[in-house]
Amino acid sequence: MTKWLSRWLRKFHRWIAVPTAIAIPLAVVIKLVGSPELVLTWEKLDKIPSLFMLIMALSGAYLFLLPYIVKGQRKKRLASKGEG
Ligand code: HEM
Repeated sequence: MTKWLSRWLRKFHRWIAVPTAIAIPLAVVIKLVGSPELVLTWEKLDKIPSLFMLIMALSGAYLFLLPYIVKGQRKKRLASKGEG
């Protein structure tokens, strides 16, 4: 289960990184140098980069914790083997 989830989440984090890397600089540029009309239009779409960033932070946090989760599972497995 962890193996499948980690493989899937790593791929997911990798591919969501592409639109995130486009959306965030785009949002900054629009806010800094966009015309007032463009800034006004952008305001409606402004949640998109934040949402991407949230998704990246959550999937990234899981990827960060993964080695510790795997280590814990291995320890548990070895301990139960030792008992039997
Ligand atoms: C708070 C936000 C983020 C956290 C906590 C985070 C965390 C991580 C972690 C822990 C890994 C795995 C590293 C490893 O063990 O090899 C990773 C991989 C990666 N991250 Fe993030 N990340 C975040 C945001 C981003 C953003 C914003 C981008 C790009 C726009 C990004 C792009 C990538 C890519 C391309 C990888 C390699 C994926 C692969 O293995 O193919 N991350 N990140």
